[in-house]
Amino acid sequence: MQTSGLLCVLLIWTRLSSSLPSGNGSESGGDTTPLLLVSFDGFRADYLKHYTFPNLEKFFSSGLLVHELTNVFTTKTFPNHYSLVTGLYAESHGILASMMYDPATKKNFSIQNDSDPFWWNRAKPIWVSVEEAGYRAASAMWPGSDVNIQNHTLEYSFRYNSRVSFSERLGNLTQWMTENRAVKFAALYWEEPDRSGHLYGPENTKEMRRVLSEVDDLVGLLMEQLNTTGLWGKINVIITSDHGMTQCSEDRLIVLDKCVSPDSYRLVDLTPVAAIIPLKDNVTVYTNLSGCHSHMKVYLKDTLPDRLHYKNNERTQPIILVADEGWTIVKHGSLPRLGDHGYDNTLPSMHPFLAAHGPAFRPGYTMLSLNSVDLYPLMCHLIGIPPMPNNGSFARVRCVLAHEQCSELALAVGAVIGVLIILTTFTCLFRLMKNRDVSSARPFARLELDEDDDDEPLLE
Ligand SMILES: *[C@@H]1O[C@H](CO)[C@@H](O)[C@H](O)[C@H]1NC(C)=O
Ligand SMILES: *[C@@H]1O[C@H](CO)[C@@H](O)[C@H](O)[C@H]1NC(C)=O
Ligand SMILES: *[C@@H]1O[C@H](CO)[C@@H](O)[C@H](O)[C@H]1NC(C)=O
Ligand SMILES: *[C@@H]1O[C@H](CO)[C@@H](O)[C@H](O)[C@H]1NC(C)=O
Ligand SMILES: *[C@@H]1O[C@H](CO)[C@@H](O)[C@H](O)[C@H]1NC(C)=O
Ligand SMILES: *[C@@H]1O[C@H](CO)[C@@H](O)[C@H](O)[C@H]1NC(C)=O
Ligand SMILES: *[C@@H]1O[C@H](CO)[C@@H](O)[C@H](O)[C@H]1NC(C)=O
Ligand SMILES: *[C@@H]1O[C@H](CO)[C@@H](O)[C@H](O)[C@H]1NC(C)=O
Ligand SMILES: *[C@@H]1O[C@H](CO)[C@@H](O)[C@H](O)[C@H]1NC(C)=O
Ligand SMILES: [Zn+2]
Repeated sequence: MQTSGLLCVLLIWTRLSSSLPSGNGSESGGDTTPLLLVSFDGFRADYLKHYTFPNLEKFFSSGLLVHELTNVFTTKTFPNHYSLVTGLYAESHGILASMMYDPATKKNFSIQNDSDPFWWNRAKPIWVSVEEAGYRAASAMWPGSDVNIQNHTLEYSFRYNSRVSFSERLGNLTQWMTENRAVKFAALYWEEPDRSGHLYGPENTKEMRRVLSEVDDLVGLLMEQLNTTGLWGKINVIITSDHGMTQCSEDRLIVLDKCVSPDSYRLVDLTPVAAIIPLKDNVTVYTNLSGCHSHMKVYLKDTLPDRLHYKNNERTQPIILVADEGWTIVKHGSLPRLGDHGYDNTLPSMHPFLAAHGPAFRPGYTMLSLNSVDLYPLMCHLIGIPPMPNNGSFARVRCVLAHEQCSELALAVGAVIGVLIILTTFTCLFRLMKNRDVSSARPFARLELDEDDDDEPLLE
């Protein structure tokens, strides 16, 4: 009796201790696999269905493909690139749009004038955490990476310059990664297919086919360059984007001057999400805008839907206008561009995709969708650094990793083992308690003895 109880205790103890993590954040001797994160701006998810990408297909055929990423509102370049590297919604990281105004300091932000740390400091991007953990990070023009954020400037980085070619950006990154083994995170930004999407509109299949084929060639160049520098297959590579693109038209214009007098408000940002500060007669400004156009939603800051994660920030202006898909807000005049993005982040046309290759990823794994904020906890896990508080979930992405047990068979086996462990544990506990009872309890002694008689042969 006593020995069987002791055995049970031992059994439980070994199970508990073997399930505890044994190492430190940077496992297996601190030899972390480097991660390269690549963004092709404005790569709409369904381009993958409508065009051919021989190189990209080669890239993810032995790796991971997520058909669609649900990105963050506003579906603009800067908010989404900052969400990818912080795991935060726009209201929490503070980069809410391409143009911003801060009422307390009266400062202005635009993507041409973005280097004041003030706008970025609310969040800590992954490259800062990587360097704080004792590694090095490198970036080629990822939005924000040339800014001093949280009193930290990246040494391996470029000032934004659209004239520096893809292969020069990539060449510098791979050089840094091979020269300095401490570089564990590198980010690479490229302007296409966004630039052509705006210029021609995504419905111009001839131009889009041309530019998307060029983008695919760049993926080929990337694989080749990684191969010749010995990095291919050794490092983890993620290729993704910030948002999609939709067709606009001269027939879908919302003209503000027809509804509100131009001197009654200040326009901080215009289309497809307008940020408006009423200057006088704010009730009338709101009323006039509310009845302005059936394809434009008008919100007072407080009435913005929670799902947009956009209202809890002092840089969100008092009135926000959101155009329906494909509609363009102008003050007056004509259509500024044939393609645009920035619309509601539930629209599939606003979603980008994600593909990955490298030792960490489950080969040939595909997922229909994922939240773009979930990428951050995944990347922190890959590098082995603790994530900052964020809006993503590692649980939702863990199955993309080769070493996680996720297949349906593994899940079923896991469930059976789990149930067995629980059953044995309870049996053990029950036995332990019973053993204690035998020596003390009098009224049920007989019952106990009866049972013991049955049990005894089985135990030995
Ligand atoms: C774990 O990491 C911490 C902080 O980086 C370090 O101080 C500590 O020495 C590490 N412990 C082990 C066992 O590696
Ligand atoms: C850029 O922004 C800063 C701070 O908001 C401002 O002082 C400066 O004048 C701006 N520069 C340009 C060229 O607009
Ligand atoms: C920001 O822009 C507004 C409107 O154009 C202007 O009144 C204000 O002075 C600007 N702030 C700074 C710091 O330049
Ligand atoms: C910012 O960093 C520099 C050196 O990198 C340091 O001397 C300075 O004290 C830091 N400032 C703050 C406010 O942390
Ligand atoms: C790095 O970028 C510069 C341009 O900024 C370019 O002249 C140089 O060739 C690049 N280096 C490599 C190795 O590609
Ligand atoms: C890498 O280079 C080797 C030798 O040149 C070649 O056989 C292989 O196909 C290349 N792999 C990729 C992914 O380009
Ligand atoms: C609101 O609309 C009315 C009627 O069109 C117009 O007379 C008035 O000037 C507008 N008010 C403002 C503040 O734009
Ligand atoms: C108008 O402005 C006043 C004072 O700033 C404010 O109390 C009120 O809520 C505003 N109303 C609207 C509709 O914005
Ligand atoms: C997003 O994460 C930040 C940081 O943890 C938190 O403050 C914020 O409340 C989160 N937002 C939501 C909607 O959970
Ligand atoms: Zn973009």
